[in-house]
Amino acid sequence: MKDILTAPFMVEMIRTATNMYAHGWDERNGGNISLMLEESGVSEYLDTQNVLRKIPTGFTAPELDGKYFLVTGTGKYFKNVQYAPDVNLGVVRLTEQGRQAELLWGYTDGGQFTSEFPAHMMSHVARLKVDPKNRVVMHCHPANLLAMTYVHDLDEKKFTRTLWQMCTECIVVFPEGVNVLPWMLCGTNEIGEATAEKMRTARLVVWSQHGIYGAGKDLDETFGLIETAEKAAEIYMKIAHLPLVNTITDEQMHRLEKRFGIKAREGYLEE
Ligand code: 13P
Ligand code: ZN
Repeated sequence: MKDILTAPFMVEMIRTATNMYAHGWDERNGGNISLMLEESGVSEYLDTQNVLRKIPTGFTAPELDGKYFLVTGTGKYFKNVQYAPDVNLGVVRLTEQGRQAELLWGYTDGGQFTSEFPAHMMSHVARLKVDPKNRVVMHCHPANLLAMTYVHDLDEKKFTRTLWQMCTECIVVFPEGVNVLPWMLCGTNEIGEATAEKMRTARLVVWSQHGIYGAGKDLDETFGLIETAEKAAEIYMKIAHLPLVNTITDEQMHRLEKRFGIKAREGYLEE
């Protein structure tokens, strides 16, 4: 059996959590990541018959039965992941229609997966229906996106258009826009279901006055999505109080669509 700390998925997870902390997106225990793993990949590093503990999930997700995930632990600090991955991360397999998680590795201090596990797993289900290659759900608290939810209209079309107008390449990176949830109690099945519903039409879902969720095919792509939206929000927070003299027009957005072969969310741009 190979050392799991050398597995590419583990190395990438540790680097990503470390980088997210470095970006200031994950104060204290803020944020969480789940990465779906292939069974063949896991079995190179772990005896998949050796279940360390069973942890009830509190929800059902039959679509994920038998699926493996590497997940950040609840209450754990992203800044510490690189120093103690086995305490701060865990590998679980969902069973019993998603009602149980079997712990195969990690959470060595007796801990368990993030309190946002429902939002993560339900979002995986939603995104896999749209894109079978989806593997990652990522949540964090980037300051500018969060700030924007205090001063900007939360209407999804308006919020998306503002972000698109802040950097030329935003519309290229997230042509489907961002979806927005109002403030809701975090860590619940309700916010999980609401997030998953929003994930059906976009890979980015803002949690007002809390943070953002991103989904993608790998950690790099998902990080990049959030990074791009957060950059746009940063520009917005720099200029929102100043007289607006220039912007990116819808006509220019249409030129970007043609140049990059993308299609903006239906109805979000003037013809
Ligand atoms: P966890 O520590 O349970 O992952 O929670 C952090 C968080 O960001 C909650 O929304
Ligand atoms: Zn959070």
